[in-house]
Amino acid sequence: MYGVDLSPIMCRLARAKARQRRASVQVIRGDMRDFRLPERVDLVLCEFDALKHVPRKEDLARVAHGVSRALRPGGHFFFDVNNRLAFQKVWPGVWWIEKPGVVLVMRGGWVDRDGVRGQTDAEWFVREGNLWRRRREHIEQVAWTTAEMRRAMREAGFDRVRAFDATPFFNGDPRIEPGCRTFYLARKAG
Ligand SMILES: C[S@@+](CC[C@H](N)C(=O)[O-])C[C@H]1O[C@@H](n2cnc3c(N)ncnc32)[C@H](O)[C@@H]1O
Repeated sequence: MYGVDLSPIMCRLARAKARQRRASVQVIRGDMRDFRLPERVDLVLCEFDALKHVPRKEDLARVAHGVSRALRPGGHFFFDVNNRLAFQKVWPGVWWIEKPGVVLVMRGGWVDRDGVRGQTDAEWFVREGNLWRRRREHIEQVAWTTAEMRRAMREAGFDRVRAFDATPFFNGDPRIEPGCRTFYLARKAG
């Protein structure tokens, strides 16, 4: 099993977690637009809208080709993305998420009004003993239509692309409305 992430800190954390759980994972610092694995694999996962962190709309084709190269024939690519509707309806609001020792406040909207990129500012409060440390993060995501997604996958050698609306997987979370988020399963031609 291999893990790929652009951030050295995320790679370090992933290695530590794998060690803790005695999971055999080789974590590679790389860019999803041009990564290479030491061998071909049966499944590539890109979850929690990681794909949408690429800076440009055209980057989708590079990711699709890279994933196709990493897969054995008949292998699958599973990923999820936020859609344009999420940037329109969900991101402009304020989100408050509270878990033991962590509070997250998010405020979002558009980077550009033509519907290509959304943005959100995340403020993290992380408990450290009796104090709370505050951290800021700015996140931008690209929006593709389902048709653009299917075209990019087919051009990269995937012969079957299935799309599932994410709403039923979020157990009635009112923030995830139909059409806002999609899971994709693409099969590389055998
Ligand atoms: C929303 S997180 C998802 C992390 C992980 N998949 C999970 O479910 O916990 C997005 C991740 O994408 C990584 N990332 C952003 N741009 C990337 C790129 N071009 N290539 C590889 N990783 C990237 C970030 O460093 C971050 O760890």
